[in-house]
Amino acid sequence: MKRDGALTSIWQDNTEDYITTNTLEDKEYDVVIAGAGITGLTTALALQNAHLSCLVIEANTIGFGTTSGTTAHLNTFFDTGYQQVIKNFGEKNAKLLVKGAKASMAMIKQNITDYKIDCAYENKEGYLFSLNEKQNKELEEIVASAKRLGLPIAFSDNMPFPIPYIKLACIKKQAQFNPVQYSIGLAKAFEEAGGVIVQNSRVTDLEEGETLQIYTSANGVIKAKNIIYATHIPPGKNLLHFRCAPYRSYVLGVKLKDNAYPHALGYDMNDPYHYYRTQFINGEKYLIAGGEDHKTGREENTQACFRRLESYVKSYFPVDRIAFRWSSQYYEPVDGLPYIGNLPGSGKNVYVATGFGGNGMIYGTLSAMIFTDMITSGKSIYQDLFDPSRIKLAAGFFQFIEEGVNVATTLVSSLLPAHKLDELADMAPGEAKVVRYDGHVAAIYKDETHQIHAVDSKCTHMNCTIAWNTVEKSWDCPCHGSRFTCDGVVLNAPAQKDLEMINIEEQINAPAYK
Ligand code: FES
Repeated sequence: MKRDGALTSIWQDNTEDYITTNTLEDKEYDVVIAGAGITGLTTALALQNAHLSCLVIEANTIGFGTTSGTTAHLNTFFDTGYQQVIKNFGEKNAKLLVKGAKASMAMIKQNITDYKIDCAYENKEGYLFSLNEKQNKELEEIVASAKRLGLPIAFSDNMPFPIPYIKLACIKKQAQFNPVQYSIGLAKAFEEAGGVIVQNSRVTDLEEGETLQIYTSANGVIKAKNIIYATHIPPGKNLLHFRCAPYRSYVLGVKLKDNAYPHALGYDMNDPYHYYRTQFINGEKYLIAGGEDHKTGREENTQACFRRLESYVKSYFPVDRIAFRWSSQYYEPVDGLPYIGNLPGSGKNVYVATGFGGNGMIYGTLSAMIFTDMITSGKSIYQDLFDPSRIKLAAGFFQFIEEGVNVATTLVSSLLPAHKLDELADMAPGEAKVVRYDGHVAAIYKDETHQIHAVDSKCTHMNCTIAWNTVEKSWDCPCHGSRFTCDGVVLNAPAQKDLEMINIEEQINAPAYK
């Protein structure tokens, strides 16, 4: 299965790309959904079942993006603890969030039952544990607030992970599944209900109006009454790019020597936190452990993230071998809750879902409910809470924005000194550099076969300087998380245009790089 990086996740291994069955019709669709991850497919199925004609346009293939990079924990609690939600949004809204989380869990289970999706769904208990005094205090607040909101949480002594802890809380009624099998099950159900999926076609532009004109890279102009951007982060230039920060997280699929695989979901309280669970897949059990998150494009050596994670896991678990390594991207919202609803600055028929943090499975499913209600009845009970245009400047907002803005400056000012182009021949295979030459800046990668790949180093979204991701062999933009192949092809939005390629062979012989 193709994906947005050089590494393969445990879900993508041995999984064939999805072949669509229905074909695009020359008509005005009720809803076009850009993106075939869990958000897009769950939404498309729900709306098609509500008797609307729906079209999903996926820029690559099903399973290409973040849904296949997730570790698919299904939780009724979130990265933003309920104590924080109560503080930022009030207790009434925190209760609404609990309601949404429970409804999303139920919807996933219902879809699995209704469409007989074989996706290794299992009910689990989740365990949250503190490692120091400061974390104890936070855990106490989390437990107290979650209890107040009616969640089945309690302190426990029954630690399912071989990790020393101080306090441990158990949350019942959590779950896990295989996100790729689930997505494929949704896609099939959607097509059986009459929906259409187009793969390898990107939404490149939008002309707004009562009837939307949707420009695509492979299917010309498509007409629709509504469009939903389920693309992880919306394309184009939008307020939301300044309210969500891109992060990368690292995951290992581990075989254990003692076969004592934990039976639960687990989370420590470090920042960034580590997360654990077990998955039975293709006849084998694996411990899936993740963490070492950092802002996209800010880590010079992403290989070191895997090394740190591996060493951390090895200090507690008897590791036999690491069978899988992969990394994945997510967007952290500035005030702790995602943005789901009408796209700021656009008409009432343009929708977006973004800023899910590490809780994409639940928020993606909740988005489907919100969009279905908004489009079919004009209103969702969750609409105000997740309104993308809300102005909720949490503490740290200005620092958050400043960090994003500073990125470009930092990276450009720390560029390598001017190189002679012929020095590039000395680059080691697998090495990448952003080089300044005669006032120009190029991003250059030498692959394992010694071939040089050179692209313009300016991100096509808003001109920030891209940074090389060693493990995924991609150029990542630190500003809003666009990602590109070594030849400049867009892997992840918000960029819609590829980076300009530079023919380095010609440039080597030219008097100056242009
Ligand atoms: Fe916005 Fe690159 S993603 S400038």
